[in-house]
Parts: sequence; C-alpha cells; structure tokens
Amino acid sequence: MDQSTKNMIFPLQVMAYKGYMNVLKTAAKIIPMPKPTLFTGSDSSLELCEAIAQMGSRKVLIVTDTVLLKLGILDSIQQTLTDNNVEFVIYDGVLPDPTYHQVESGLALYKSGDCDAILAVGGGSPIDAAKVIAARVNNHREIKKLTGLFKVWKAPAPLFVIPTTAGTGSEVTIAAVVSDPVTHKKTPLIDPKLVPMMASLDASLMIGLPAHVTSATGMDALTHAVEAFISMNASADTDAYAIAATKLIIQNLSITVSDGANLDARQKMAMASYYAGLAFTKASLGYVHAISHNLGAKYGTPHGLANAIVLPYVLEYSMPEIAPRLAKLSRACGLGVTRDSDNALAQVFIDHTQGMLKEYGISSQLDALKIEDVTEIAQAALKEAHFNYPVPKYMDQTQCETLIKRILVT
Ligand SMILES: NC(=O)c1ccc[n+]([C@@H]2O[C@H](COP(=O)([O-])OP(=O)(O)OC[C@H]3O[C@@H](n4cnc5c(N)ncnc54)[C@H](O)[C@@H]3O)[C@@H](O)[C@H]2O)c1
Ligand SMILES: [Fe+2]
Repeated sequence: MDQSTKNMIFPLQVMAYKGYMNVLKTAAKIIPMPKPTLFTGSDSSLELCEAIAQMGSRKVLIVTDTVLLKLGILDSIQQTLTDNNVEFVIYDGVLPDPTYHQVESGLALYKSGDCDAILAVGGGSPIDAAKVIAARVNNHREIKKLTGLFKVWKAPAPLFVIPTTAGTGSEVTIAAVVSDPVTHKKTPLIDPKLVPMMASLDASLMIGLPAHVTSATGMDALTHAVEAFISMNASADTDAYAIAATKLIIQNLSITVSDGANLDARQKMAMASYYAGLAFTKASLGYVHAISHNLGAKYGTPHGLANAIVLPYVLEYSMPEIAPRLAKLSRACGLGVTRDSDNALAQVFIDHTQGMLKEYGISSQLDALKIEDVTEIAQAALKEAHFNYPVPKYMDQTQCETLIKRILVT
C-alpha cells in the first residue's frame, strides 16, 4: 500500500478504534471490578499473614525472587506464617518480566507441595507470575490461551499479595503481564478474576529498594495515573484516583529517591501506586505503555525506566488535545500559576516530568535502541495500542517512528 492510500484510510481506521474503545468503556462500567481487602502501614504484611491463617489456608506457595529472599525481606513473613500454623513452600525463580516457563515451574511446585493458596511477595514481576500461577491452578489450558481479554474462565486459587515496589499497582489491577519465550513479546492476561483477594501496602519492606529502582518504579506509577487521566475512557471515578496518585507521587517520589529510609514518603508512594492501579485498571493505558512494553521486549529495558523515558515524548505528541487535562493535573498538584492558560499549565506538567528524570539521573534517550529496530518497534506498539488503549490523539506508523527516533542516542 502506498503512502497516500495509507493516509486516506488512517482516519477510517481511527473511527473503528474509537468505536471499539466505546464498547470497552461500556464493558468497564458494567463488569464488576473487585478490589482486594487492604492492610496498610508498617507491619501490615504480617497482619496479612495472620489473615491468611484466618481464611483457613493450610499451606501456601510463596512466589518471590532470589534478591528479596537474600535481602531477608521475607524473614518476618515466613516467621508469622509459621507462628500461625500455615506451612509454605517458596518459588523464588521469578526474574524481571516473568516468562511462561517461570509460571509453569511455580505451578508445578504448587501442585507437588499440595498448596491451597498463593502469596506473592515482590515487585510487579513476582506478583504477575503469581497471578498467572493462580489462574493456571483451575484453568487447564496453556498460558497462551489465557492471554487477552476475559479468558480466565474458572476462579483462580486464593491469591494474597505483598508488593515491595511502588510500583506497578498489580496488587489491584485486572492485568498480569508475562512474556512468550518464543516471540519474546509481553503478553497480558486481562480479567477481573485476576484481582488478588487481599493485599498489604507495607512500606517497611521498601526501605532497601535501591534509588534507581525507586525512581523507575515510581515513574511507572506516575505513567499509570497520567495515561488513565488522559484516556478517552476516563470517568469521575478513575479521575479521582488518578489525581490522588499524581499528587502523592509529585510530593513524595523525590523524597523516597533521595532518602530511601523515609517511611512516611514510602508509605505514601505505596498508596499512590495502588490508586494509580485503580485508575488504569478501568480507564486503561496509552502509547507510553505500548512503546515501553516493546522496548522492554526487545532490549530487556526495565518497565518503569522505559515508561519514564517515553512519557514526556508521548505527552508532547498528544498536545494540544490533552492540554485541558494536563492543566487540571498541574492545578491539582500545585504546579505553575493556577490562572495561567491550559496550554501553559500543560507545558508546566510536561516540563516537571522532564525535571524529575533529570533529578533522578534518567536519560531522555535509550542507549540500547537501534535505528534499524525502529520500524518493527513502532509496528508492534501500534498493534498493541490500537485495539487496547483509548488514546486521546492517535498516531500512524510514520508519526510513531518519528517519536521513537527522538529516543535514539545521536
Ligand atoms: N499487572 C499489572 O497491572 C502491571 C502493571 C505495570 C507493570 N507490570 C509488570 O511488572 C513488572 C515490573 O515490576 P517492577 O517494576 O515492580 O519490578 P520487578 O518486580 O521486576 O523488580 C525489579 C527489581 O527490584 C528488586 N526489588 C523489588 N523490591 C525490592 C525491595 N523492596 N528491596 C530491594 N530490591 C527490590 C527485585 O528483586 C528486582 O531485581 C514488569 O513485568 C511489568 O510488565 C504489571
Ligand atoms: Fe506500567
């Protein structure tokens, strides 16, 4: 197809995408979205362990990673389970961006250990792996067949979650992202049944999170809040969560990066991550995630870091359509002068995100990105975005490539 034909049919394609997004908006309004019972504050992870016993679980599969195990982050959790007569086996094979294979290994341990519940302790990677293990317990189909919308037909095993980053918001979302080992693509499972039964937001477990992981995971939470807020499927409900999250992140992320031991700021970031999760689980995401997922799949770029780099470029591209929305966020967060124009305040918000990257030592370019990969990454990102994300301003292949090229180191 030549360029002029592509230009002619693109507006028609956009009409089809928008129609489909309206269907999803109605579905999000009708389908009940469960929330986990929440325990918050220092040592709330131990309260959660007591609740697991009270719920009648005899033996849990703990899903985590070796780093957390070595750091001793699970010590008091294991002790509390033992004190409450709950046995456990540990699957610590999860790596960043978990694969189908890791899920199946965890599932095998769940079965051989005769477990009756799952406890995830970790960042988004162990939580997502645990969500899919829980789904696989009663859904006897290969993981590939569970990916996509509403494919988890039978109730998962009881799932309890303790996030140690702030974060992905996975403790409250209907999504789990796992990677296909053959295509190396990140393939999401999206189903309300994936929402955990209970979660704890315990900042005392996040004190040792290194500054570079703190900043990247915090920028992931900010991206969730902002993409949900500028989404065409945003509602009063999701707006409230997105604004609350953005405000908490603007006020607290820098503190947690420079002073990791600040428990109050860490707890507020954990809450922000949870609110951002609530916002995007209904309002969805946008081009930042579509592009960053594909950078992650291609180069192994950590999820939060990729989002942090891409966020300002997508916001700039989406102007002026998103100016009133970004201006609203600026006003809510006390950025800029309230009576300034929407365009000016939106720019203040974009400048602020770029300022955060500078402060955290995050480059605006991605070293790993190669010019010869741009076309393929743009194709994959648009494929992901156009039937999943209700973006406020659509882009075609050429526009997406132009945006991605801005991330190249020149
Ligand atoms: N399901 C969802 O809704 C959702 C949303 C966003 C992202 N994700 C997925 O989540 C994954 C990323 O999760 P993440 O960003 O939380 O990182 P992660 O879970 O991959 O962890 C990153 C690193 O931080 C370490 N770490 C975690 N907590 C720590 C702590 N308290 N102290 C010291 N080290 C700690 C881990 O050991 C790991 O080495 C990606 O696969 C992404 O696709 C899922
Ligand atoms: Fe994310």
